[in-house]
Amino acid sequence: MKWFRIALLDSYIIPHLLSQEHFLIYAVLIIVNDINKVTNAASRRGFVKGLLCAFIGGLLGLVPFASGIVVFMDPMRRKSSSNGAVRVASLESLPSDGIPRKFSVLATRVDAWNKFKDVPIGAVYLRRTGNQVEALNVVCPHAGCFVDFSPARGRFQCPCHNSSFTVTGKIDNPASPSPRGLDTLDVEIRDGKEIWVNFRNFQAGRADKIPVS
Ligand code: FES
Repeated sequence: MKWFRIALLDSYIIPHLLSQEHFLIYAVLIIVNDINKVTNAASRRGFVKGLLCAFIGGLLGLVPFASGIVVFMDPMRRKSSSNGAVRVASLESLPSDGIPRKFSVLATRVDAWNKFKDVPIGAVYLRRTGNQVEALNVVCPHAGCFVDFSPARGRFQCPCHNSSFTVTGKIDNPASPSPRGLDTLDVEIRDGKEIWVNFRNFQAGRADKIPVS
């Protein structure tokens, strides 16, 4: 196109208007101008193309990055917990004579990264009368010591400050420093043979039962 314009100028205009030197300068300017236009268009296309590639690349990179963050954060969103019903004993292992027996409570603990099976999380006294089972937390509500059951005296005794409790967990002696009776726990007999306890700990030193979170 530029050569056509130059030829046109050469044939018709130059002889009438411009000297040969001026025409050459004019022709060079036209060519430089055309080259600039082509270069600018190419660099614009290159810039837009680069921008598009960067955007798509960023988008594609964002998916695995976001997935990684979700996977990384997921365990941290899990609560470190062992709350809920726990199988404590079989029904046949608990005599139905109404005398409390002590059992460890084992549970699966899950923290941010690990799962541990059969971790001791506390202990309970189970008492069976017929097919009825009651559960008491062994922790004294006064200050958290473990109470003992004395079959001879037929009551629970705390070794720390002498609180005493009846076989059902009620305060036995009004002089006991414990602000409440032993903490009862919900019991469920599953399949007619397994004793499951909803094990909880409660805050010590208070008259009301407030679960420890
Ligand atoms: S801890 Fe049991 S009486 Fe104080």
